[in-house]
Amino acid sequence: MSAVQQLVEEASGRISGASTTADLRALELEYLGKSGSIAGLMRGIGALAPEERPGFGQAVNQAKDRVQSLLESRVAELRVTELESQFAAEAIDVTMPGRRTQVGNRHVLGQAMEKVKRVLGGMGFVYDESPDLEEFKYNFDALNYPPDHPAMDDQDTFYIDDDHLLRTQTTALQGRVFERVKPPLRYFTIGRCYRNEAVDRTHGHTFHQVDAFMVDEGVSMAQLKGTLGQFAREMFGADTVTRFRPDFFPFVEPGVDFAISSPKFMGGAWLELGGAGLIHPSILERYGIDTERYSGFAFGLGVDRIPLLAYGIDDLRYFLDNDLRFLAQFPG
Ligand code: FA5
Repeated sequence: MSAVQQLVEEASGRISGASTTADLRALELEYLGKSGSIAGLMRGIGALAPEERPGFGQAVNQAKDRVQSLLESRVAELRVTELESQFAAEAIDVTMPGRRTQVGNRHVLGQAMEKVKRVLGGMGFVYDESPDLEEFKYNFDALNYPPDHPAMDDQDTFYIDDDHLLRTQTTALQGRVFERVKPPLRYFTIGRCYRNEAVDRTHGHTFHQVDAFMVDEGVSMAQLKGTLGQFAREMFGADTVTRFRPDFFPFVEPGVDFAISSPKFMGGAWLELGGAGLIHPSILERYGIDTERYSGFAFGLGVDRIPLLAYGIDDLRYFLDNDLRFLAQFPG
């Protein structure tokens, strides 16, 4: 057998023995590459007698074609089996039981906030927000707290530096709005508040408040009571009544705390929700609002109290625990 035939025999054996297309690519290089075996044979042509050369050249070319076609047909075969095993490995067993997708629900506090937004938005209050990390001046100075007034002790908080703190009350929005907007105006906000509290069932270091305020001509306590009454009825049901009792906040005069009562909650006991009053005239004057013409009311309440009442939850610490066994009970 000539060297050419021998090479073709050997290549044919190795090609049919190859088990992957990657092996075939290696064989292709080995036989047909620029420095492969067939090119090597061709280089030997110079050593032959001139009359032997054409026959030899032809034989090498035929060998080359033969190896080429063997490679091609083996590649085609292997590709089929490779695809088959790939499909087998990726096959999906459609008879397997499905995995139930968990559908979440809105956080119970989020639901309360949405409801507050619908109710106050429906009463013509414009929603706005101010930062959690607030300036001392908006949290206290702008709200008429004299320097070192003991009222600030009730609202000790977490200070970032002397001028920045985690806000203790969403009432801090007032100064920011009065800087920008001229009356008549109605605004409200909802957000997180922070206090350095001894944490218990009804007091968190982190909680949520709603604050709303309105400045217009002739705003009075009667309008405040009417507005809060309407708010309470829409939030808690038509049979809810609202009570005012005198209270002190530096930014209102007169000031009240307000409570609601409904036969639905704790047998009609009075449940305190927050504070309210007429905006102190010195705040309006500070922002250049004519107090001969305009007056305003403001109220603020704890959002966490709303589901506490509505669902009879006895500890507000559940709200921030992120325990799905608790949260899933309020699908909204
Ligand atoms: C205030 O924060 C006043 N800014 C409310 C106000 C607004 C008065 C506008 C007048 C005019 P107070 O500190 O009482 O007031 O808090 C209001 C409500 O926030 C409370 O009734 C309670 O529902 C909630 N709250 C206060 N501290 C906490 C706390 N540590 N954890 C949970 N809720 C709290």
